[in-house]
Amino acid sequence: MAIPKPIPNFIFLILVSFFVIASAEVFFEERFDDGWESRWVKSDWKKDDNMAGEWNYTSGKWSGDLNDKGIQTSEDYRFYAISAKLPEVNNKGKTLVFQFSVKHEQQLDCGGGYMKLLSGDIDQKNFGGDTPYSIMFGPDICGSTKKVHAILHYKGTNHLMKKEVPCETDQLTHVYTFILHPDASYKILIDNVEKRTGSLYTDWDLLPPKRIKDPSAKKPEDWDDKEFIPDPEDKKPEGYDDIPKEIPDPDAKKPEDWDDEEDGEWTPSTIPNPEYNGPWKPKKIKNPNYKGKWKAPKIDNPDFKDDPDLYVFPNLKHVGIELWQVKSGTLFDNILVADDVEYAKKLAEETWGKQKDAEKAAFEEAEKKKEEDSKDDAADSDVDDDHGDSSSDDGEGSESDFDSKSDASKDSVEKDVHDEL
Ligand SMILES: *[C@@H]1O[C@H](CO)[C@@H](O)[C@H](O)[C@H]1NC(C)=O
Repeated sequence: MAIPKPIPNFIFLILVSFFVIASAEVFFEERFDDGWESRWVKSDWKKDDNMAGEWNYTSGKWSGDLNDKGIQTSEDYRFYAISAKLPEVNNKGKTLVFQFSVKHEQQLDCGGGYMKLLSGDIDQKNFGGDTPYSIMFGPDICGSTKKVHAILHYKGTNHLMKKEVPCETDQLTHVYTFILHPDASYKILIDNVEKRTGSLYTDWDLLPPKRIKDPSAKKPEDWDDKEFIPDPEDKKPEGYDDIPKEIPDPDAKKPEDWDDEEDGEWTPSTIPNPEYNGPWKPKKIKNPNYKGKWKAPKIDNPDFKDDPDLYVFPNLKHVGIELWQVKSGTLFDNILVADDVEYAKKLAEETWGKQKDAEKAAFEEAEKKKEEDSKDDAADSDVDDDHGDSSSDDGEGSESDFDSKSDASKDSVEKDVHDEL
């Protein structure tokens, strides 16, 4: 009798992976080749105040491939806003991948390097800091804050991620990837390396927590939470209390002209007794009845109502960059919105991955040249070495003075920008 053979596992796997690859979809990919300007709309936001910065279409001062251009902020103390249309994306039942590369050539001390996905219709010509967005993702640097933002909009509120993910701070290109899965798990990658993974349920306050500490629970009366107790076996040594705190100074000498009759009986001054160790205390031992710190038991939170669509953004329609920059020089490239993690990984490898070594070499070359130029300048000027050095120091000093004078205004603007979140 012929028994039908089950499909061998490996064939099944091939079928499944074929299906996965076949269903992979790239919603938006921007490599900034020729023609990019027809896809992107520069906003008029802040133009009236002369505060709208210009984008420079370039591969930057150093790069791994001169022909691979992106868009770079090119003016200091300016706002930047630019956006492109997506085919309408609904990630229900799908993975969502948002990825781009960013390079801060300017040794960024305060400014963003993040991008946004926006839902519904927006007026691209007026896209700005007030335009509601759904996802804001990417590095943000200001003073000691150097982190990757992942802000999610949920039911009228923007929620910052509660976990810290440090961002890159050097002057080279890095790829930032945000992955959101239908099971509400997420991943943040930098340069194809996972930096954090977790769940929308726990790492943002989108919903109230599923489980809470039982508010009615009380620590039982007999709960012993003292880890150490005095040793009942330890006994005070005999004579311990007879040790005086102070003793007569053995070096004190009765003055030669001391007259017992006139001055009274001479007593030496006192000093602290080195033998004295304070009041006696028994030594501490581990408490054999120690039960650990008491914790209230957890119960289901009555305020928690699950939302199985917590991860869903049903009509993403635009990708945008909206930034305030104190120092310009941030270059964006290779923007991807897709449902395919493997594709994103491959794209990163084929762009950043292929170019990173050459870019690093170009950067080091540029740094060396800068150093040599400043040495030449010092030699050219008709002063001795000491003077040369100090005059170039002065140059740097006045530049940073300028920065710090503007600190207050830049902080308040940056704060305004952040308050809009
Ligand atoms: C654009 O970038 C290139 C490369 O860094 C630079 O040479 C050029 O001066 C920049 N142009 C503007 C308008 O900033």
